[in-house]
Formats: sequence, C-alpha cells, structure tokens
Amino acid sequence: MIGPTLKISDRSKMPPFMAMDIMRLAAELDANGSDIVHLEVGQPSSSAPQPVIQMLAESMVKQRTHGYSVALGIPELRQRIAEHYQEWYKVNIHSEQVAVTVGSSTAFAISFMAAFDVGDRIAIPNPGYPAYRNLMLGMGLEPVILPAGVKEGWMPRLQEMEKWKKLPDGLMIASPHNPTGVVIPDEELKNICKWCDRNGVRLISDEIYHGLSYTDRCETAFKYNDNVIVINSLSKYFSMTGWRIGWMILPEQLVNAAERLAQNLYISAPTPNQIAAVKAFDCVEELDKHVNRYKDNRQVLLSGLPSEFLGKAAPCDGAFYIYADISALSVDSISFAKKLLDEAGVATTPGVDFDPIDGNRYLRLSFAGSTHSMHEAVKRINKFVEAYKREAA
Ligand SMILES: Cc1ncc(COP(=O)(O)O)c(C=O)c1O
Repeated sequence: MIGPTLKISDRSKMPPFMAMDIMRLAAELDANGSDIVHLEVGQPSSSAPQPVIQMLAESMVKQRTHGYSVALGIPELRQRIAEHYQEWYKVNIHSEQVAVTVGSSTAFAISFMAAFDVGDRIAIPNPGYPAYRNLMLGMGLEPVILPAGVKEGWMPRLQEMEKWKKLPDGLMIASPHNPTGVVIPDEELKNICKWCDRNGVRLISDEIYHGLSYTDRCETAFKYNDNVIVINSLSKYFSMTGWRIGWMILPEQLVNAAERLAQNLYISAPTPNQIAAVKAFDCVEELDKHVNRYKDNRQVLLSGLPSEFLGKAAPCDGAFYIYADISALSVDSISFAKKLLDEAGVATTPGVDFDPIDGNRYLRLSFAGSTHSMHEAVKRINKFVEAYKREAA
C-alpha cells in the first residue's frame, strides 16, 4: 500500500558536491584498470606518521577499553594541542579552550551553532570550501558571499563588507585557502582580526592548511583576536585524513556551549585515535618531508602546464592546490573536466562547487600526490590541450 507522501526537509536541500561526480567517474575508471592520474583528491597520499601508528597499535594491544572520552577530548590531547600553539605560534592557550572534534567538519557545525542564531548572516569568501555555505544553509544561517576572486586579488576585502547596508554577524576565513591555495599575509590577517573585534563581528578562522605554506609560515588568528574561533585538524599537514580528529580553539565564553553541543552531536571523537594523535605533534621531521614533496610537485605543475590551462591562476602559496583558470579554453569546467578525464585520464575538480558564480572558468588541481604522477599529469595535459586547440580551430 502506498501511504501519504512524507515530507523531506527544506533545510536538507543544499547543493550537491558536484566534484563527487568526477571522483566517482575516476574511481570507476580506476576499477576498470584504466591508468588515472589523480589531481582531484584533496588529501595526502602519504600515511599517518609512524609514531602515531605505533601508539595506536600499542594502545590496542594493551586492550584499553576505548570507551567514550569526555566530549571535549582526552586531557592529554587537549594539553598537547595547547603546547603545539606555544611551539608553532608562541601563543599561550589553556588546554580548557581546546575542544577535540570529529575532523574539522564537525567543528564548523559546533561553532556555527554555538556562535549564531537562525537568520544570522555570515560572510564567506567566494570561491571557498563549499561545506561552509551548505552547512550554514542547513542550519538556517545566511551565508553572504564576500568576493575573493581574481578582481579582489584573491583575498577577502574588508572594504567590501563596509559597503554593505549592515555588517555581517560573522566572518569565515581560511588561510591557506581551499581551492586557491592563497595565503592571507600576516599584516592583512592582523587587520581582519582587529576589524572584526572593533565591529563586533565573530571571526571563524579555518587553519586546516597550516604547515602547508611555501612562502612564510602562517600565524594563527588567535594571536590577534581573543574572540576568534580557530578550527584545525590532523587531516592535511599531519597526513591523517581518515582518522577524523580535528579541534577548535575557543574563546572562554563559548567553551560550555561547545561542550554541550559536542555531547549531543557525537559524544566524543574516536578515543583510540585521540590517544594516538597525541604523538602527531612530535612528528614534524617526518611530516615536513611531505611538505618538501608538495613544494616540488607545485613547481612541476607551475612550470610544466600550458599557459592556456593555468591562465590567471591564483598565487598558490599554501595548501596543495592550484586554481587553474581554464577560461581561454572553456567556460564549462564540468564538461572540460569530464573530457580531460575521458581522453587524457587526468582527474581534476571543476570550480563550480567552490564558486557558484565564476567556477565554470576554473579547475582545482591537487598536488598532494606523488611527484611522478605530477610529471605524468604535465605530459598528458600538454598533449590534451594541443589536441583540444586543434579541435576548436
Ligand atoms: C578548507 C577545509 N576545511 C575543512 C575541511 C574538512 O576537513 P576535515 O573534516 O577532514 O578536518 C577541508 C577538507 O578538504 C577543507 O578543505
């Protein structure tokens, strides 16, 4: 018997992640034995650091119960994260301000719920990581696009918000940025932090790509603003994407709210992974070797890819992405990415997920893979672009 049609919420009607289409197609081709070069994946191809793996194995062998931890994380990990801020940024953080989360993804949900009410407006840079916008829509918040494209020098500009009738309730920034790899210079970061404080705008700083910068080391926004929510995780520099350990540095005023939300959302981050994660912060030597590889990979792509394919790419000073401007070849990045995958076996991410306005002119290329695969990508893309131009002529 067919019953009455039950409702599906409006809040869940967020845009799909279109890049997943390309990822799925690439995975199918892989499974059929095709030789695909992967520039679409936003995660390290390297393993978690050895001491972390060892610690996990030891804790398993000791048969610790591995039940839930307290919601904000095991004290050893919160303490080690606080020490990490002293080591990397020379800032003092109390371990009570650290909340361990399930990847940084749940940290977004917690910070949006802890700091904002339904209807609040939060400025987000465009292009930007799509989950910010989608999660906000799902929570009844209003993401307000802050242009940060080629015209703005790839940077969110305070002057732009000052032109708005009403300042936003919050501002989200990410440096190094996904998809562009752009790093906000320290002086500008300081300006943004001070401006937010002066204007009562809650700043959320996604620092997940810290440790992956090829010019200067990035400072934490916490250095310049006590009210900022800093979000980070072990997924990128630390090469531990699937371990699902992230964290927030919270202003004291938000700690209790975040604790209640974490208790109700996920009870605790995976306990064995928390125990092992304490070791991650001592593995800088091993992890910096990956950063050197990314640096080489970036150079291979920047010096080897055709100029029509790179176009006016953003200055990729951090993360492991190049946001290539393919507009001289195509203004339909989804079809272009599919053709590139079909004909050259190179998987990339179309810009439309990151930028609903101009994303059809861009492809995101990840250089988190092996240097060998970057050389192969350069060879294939050059051949593809030559054929593409002949076809178009
Ligand atoms: C800018 C940015 N923030 C957050 C995330 C989510 O990371 P995780 O939940 O693995 O910590 C990603 C993943 O690609 C990202 O690019």
